[in-house]
Amino acid sequence: MKPKAKVGILISGRGSNMASLIAAAQDFDCPFEIALVASDKPDAPGLTFAKAAAVATFAQSPKGIAKAEYEAAIETALLSTGVEVIALAGYMRLLSDAFVARWKGRIINIHPSLLPKYKGLDTHRRAIEAGDSHAGCSVHVVTEELDGGAVLGQAEVAILPDDTPATLAERVLQEEHRLYPKVLADFVTQ
Ligand code: GRF
Repeated sequence: MKPKAKVGILISGRGSNMASLIAAAQDFDCPFEIALVASDKPDAPGLTFAKAAAVATFAQSPKGIAKAEYEAAIETALLSTGVEVIALAGYMRLLSDAFVARWKGRIINIHPSLLPKYKGLDTHRRAIEAGDSHAGCSVHVVTEELDGGAVLGQAEVAILPDDTPATLAERVLQEEHRLYPKVLADFVTQ
């Protein structure tokens, strides 16, 4: 069997997508392992989950330091754990162009819309207000353009007549948890 690709996950919050990647990585046949979970929020609930799952963690707040210094700290942690591919999972900070260039083609992200629709925030409310029949989620390559890189996979969810942004987000999230491990596995074996 080929060596597993070492993945670093960046989070800012609850980390439910991170948890789905950690769970998938526990499968003997999974082509990736989670080498590090790193966060810009030292109190992110996802860090507690990762530690309990015996995954290495790193936290660095960007407060009070230059962006380049903050990113260098994260990058040192990623490199020291052998990370080859970065999976963003609810990481709420924009990576600098320089960082993205250094990791070109090796960062992916999950976004809660059917890209190219609804880049940025508040995707579920925007889909409902537009009268769309379907919402969903996309996994895409990260480039310098926000939510703009090649789409690697998508899952659709029907929008119900009485959906609120919260009820829709909940159903889309279930699809995110299925989609992200599958797409990441394909991405590291391509
Ligand atoms: C998810 O909806 C993801 O698509 C978006 O941020 C949210 C993160 O949720 N990028 P979680 O932290 O993975 O639970």
